[in-house]
Amino acid sequence: MITESELLALSHPGAPKMVTTSVPGPVARQSLARSLEFESMARGGGDFPLVFEQGFGVTVADPDGNLYIDVSAGVGVNSVGRCHPAVVEAIRAQSQRLMHASDISNSRRVELAGALSEIMPLGLRGNCISYFTQSGSDALEAAIKFAKRVTGRQQILAFHGAYHGVWNASNALTTGNQYRSGYGPFMGGVIHAPYPYAYRFPFDTTGKSAEQIAGEYVDYLLNTRYTGAEDVAAVVVEPVQGEGGYVAPAAEFLQLLRKACNESGALLVVDEVQAGAGRTGKMWSVEHSGVEPDMLTFGKGMGGDLPMAGVALRSDLARQIPPGSVPGTFAANALSAAVCLTNIGLLRDPKLALIDRARELGQETLEYLRSRDHRLIGESRGRGLMIGIELVEDRASKAPLAAQKMGHIVVESLKRGIIMVPCGRNGNVLRLMPSLTIPRVYMTRALEIILEVLDTV
Ligand SMILES: Cc1ncc(COP(=O)(O)O)c(C=O)c1O
Repeated sequence: MITESELLALSHPGAPKMVTTSVPGPVARQSLARSLEFESMARGGGDFPLVFEQGFGVTVADPDGNLYIDVSAGVGVNSVGRCHPAVVEAIRAQSQRLMHASDISNSRRVELAGALSEIMPLGLRGNCISYFTQSGSDALEAAIKFAKRVTGRQQILAFHGAYHGVWNASNALTTGNQYRSGYGPFMGGVIHAPYPYAYRFPFDTTGKSAEQIAGEYVDYLLNTRYTGAEDVAAVVVEPVQGEGGYVAPAAEFLQLLRKACNESGALLVVDEVQAGAGRTGKMWSVEHSGVEPDMLTFGKGMGGDLPMAGVALRSDLARQIPPGSVPGTFAANALSAAVCLTNIGLLRDPKLALIDRARELGQETLEYLRSRDHRLIGESRGRGLMIGIELVEDRASKAPLAAQKMGHIVVESLKRGIIMVPCGRNGNVLRLMPSLTIPRVYMTRALEIILEVLDTV
């Protein structure tokens, strides 16, 4: 396994280190003011009081010279850390040969499709065809089109709390009000069912687990007459829910979905855009369940420093898609493909064992958080380095921590040098999704600071 000193060499030394008295500092403040003037604030992080100047491993420097530890990895993107030397070298080498090739084959893209087939979960491994996009939203758009085309059906079943993107079909699956309000109508024919979010499940779980109830309900919807779900092309699910609060259900949930899909003829599409690329301690989070999906969407961590996303679908399904029917000008740019291949190489390298490390460090982190038993922590949960800390006003009522207190925690952490992006249906879940290359000392320091900040609320 990669050593701690090797990991430290991938990041700036001495983080966190704050040199300005306020955050943002004077240079960053000017830059943010210009951004407000010229850039759409429809984007996700527009109001985040930080400007990135340099990123190296798990550390980021702002233009004022403050140095942060980033436990969000660019929202789950930088699985191998920022500017990894192998990635930088791949960019240097490929950029001198070929970058753009449009949708025509290029050597790196062909190599990448083969590599993806090798690393897919069972069911798709050695038996899939990849379709490339630039973003996770696009990957979901494509998966939905393909599911409709090959089944000849029109409905899609997704889950409460889901985030699958913000375009028309993907937004129809995404449930957050802030992404929907005023933008509809979206693609029709979407049915939403409860996700097994045990901490806030709408039904009584004394006799049965949330996973059983949620899984059996999908079976009921798909395989019972008069439920209005007679035409479902696909069940689209995050094996570990991301934006919805970092919820990691037991394997039984996906197993029940697989069974229900087999009976109804719906396809099972697992969205691994956030939970994939080794983050949960397996290459794909669906692998914790042993379930074989029909399609898998990938993004974020597969691309890392350059955009790369797509959908892998079973070969027999892919053969039913008419050639040339879903073109993409920028798909699988040779440079992005070279970076993705490098990321895959690093994640699979047995000498580095980054994915095993994610599993171990994630488990240690969860144990540490649970042992600290802070009064604001309702639940610490997750899988691998995909950890959610759900904050509450008090544990008895489980009332979500007020938005203004959450804002204080995020900004106060930033002032102390920790970059953290919350999530959850009530915006009250701190998520730890650092690069798999985070040195232990940086993880420990980040946790100490976060707990110190919780004490200030
Ligand atoms: C599970 C999941 N699917 C899809 C997406 C959309 O990806 P992108 O932001 O690259 O469009 C996200 C983004 O957070 C995600 O978490």
